[in-house]
Amino acid sequence: MLDRLAEALRALRATDQLRDLTIPSGIQLSSNDYLGLSTHPRIKAAILRALEDDERICSTGSRLLSGNHERWEQLETAFARFVGAEAALYFPSGYAANIGLLSSILKPDDVVFSDAANHASLVDGIRLSHARRSIFPHLDIDYLKRALQQTPHSGETFIVVESIFSMEGDRAPLDEFLALCERFGAWLIVDEAHSTGVDKPIRRADRLFATVHTCGKALASMGAFVAGSRTLRDFLINHARTFIFTTALPPYCAAHVQEAMRLAAEADSARKQLGELSGHVRERMRVLGFDAGRSDSQIVPLVLGSNETAVRFAEALLSSGFAVRAIRPPSVPPGTARIRISLNANLSIADVDSFLNALVEVREAEVVRE
Ligand SMILES: Cc1ncc(COP(=O)(O)O)c(C=O)c1O
Repeated sequence: MLDRLAEALRALRATDQLRDLTIPSGIQLSSNDYLGLSTHPRIKAAILRALEDDERICSTGSRLLSGNHERWEQLETAFARFVGAEAALYFPSGYAANIGLLSSILKPDDVVFSDAANHASLVDGIRLSHARRSIFPHLDIDYLKRALQQTPHSGETFIVVESIFSMEGDRAPLDEFLALCERFGAWLIVDEAHSTGVDKPIRRADRLFATVHTCGKALASMGAFVAGSRTLRDFLINHARTFIFTTALPPYCAAHVQEAMRLAAEADSARKQLGELSGHVRERMRVLGFDAGRSDSQIVPLVLGSNETAVRFAEALLSSGFAVRAIRPPSVPPGTARIRISLNANLSIADVDSFLNALVEVREAEVVRE
C-alpha cells in the first residue's frame, strides 16, 4: 500500500505538482489577510478577555449537544445584521459550510449550474448532494442562459458562483445572475469568501437563496457563516451534517470572530488602501506585459502556463524576499499554472513596486535561460 502512495507522489513530482508544507517568509503576497487585521491587538485582547471570562476553554461537544454557547448565538445574530440577512449559522470552516449547505439543501431531481472556476468546497458539496450538475464556462452568461432554457427537470434550479473568484480575482456580475434567476425561477447561492469584509455586503433579493462568508480571510479569524432566511438556518441546524456531527469551536473563538467583524466594519481606510494597491498592481502588470487575467480585485493572478514555469517563478521570487506560492492543477485548470498575488492593506506601493521589479528580473532570467 505504501508503494502505491509513493508512486502517486512520484507522479506528482514528475509533473511539478508535488506540494509540500513550507512556512513562507518575506514580503507577504500570498495571504488572504486582505484588511491586514491578523496582527491586530484588539483581536488578541478580545480573545484573552474571553478566555478569562469563560469558565471552559473548549466547547465540550457539538452545538446540538453540550457545545452551544450564548457567544455563538450572539455572533450569528450580529453577523446576519452585518450582511443584511435574516439569519446566519456558523460552521467551523468555509469548506464545512459549503459542504453542509449544498449537500443538505439539494435533492437528486434538482439541477445546479455551477461556474467552472468554483472552489473545490462548492464542487464537492454539489457532488455529495447527487443533484444534477451542469458546469458552465467561467462567467459565460450567454452559455448559462441557453443551458437554463435547454435543461428540463422536475426539481428546483440553482446557480452557484463566487462573488470574487479565488484564483481568477474577477467578479461575478451578481445582478445579471439574479436577473437570470428571476427569469428562470432559479435560486442563487453566492460564496463570498473573498469579498466578505472587502466589499459592501451584496444586495439581498428574493432569488438570493444563501450567501457563504468565510472568516479566515479578511475577517482574520476562522470558520464561516451561511446567511439567508431563518427557515434556512433552522433547516441547516437539522440537516447539515458538517454542522451536526462536529464539535463546536471553543467559545473564545466566537469572541475572536466578533471583534474581527467589528474591526472590519470600521476598516474603511484599509479597504481604500487595498483598492489602491490592487489597481496599481493590475495596471503595472499589464503595462509590463504580464498576464493578470481578468482580475478586478485584490487577487491578481500572474498566469504563467506550465507547472514548471510557475514553480521556477515562485522559487526565484521567494529567494528575492517575496512570499508567493505557485498555484497548479487541480486548483486551476491544466496549462494555467500561476502565481496568485493576493494583496493586503499592510503593504505599501513601495513594497509592490519592489515586487514588480523582481518579477521583471525573473522574467529576464527566464528569457536568457530559454
Ligand atoms: C471561495 C472559497 N470558498 C470556501 C473556501 C474554504 O474556506 P475555509 O478555508 O474557511 O475552509 C475557500 C478558501 O479556502 C475559498 O476560497
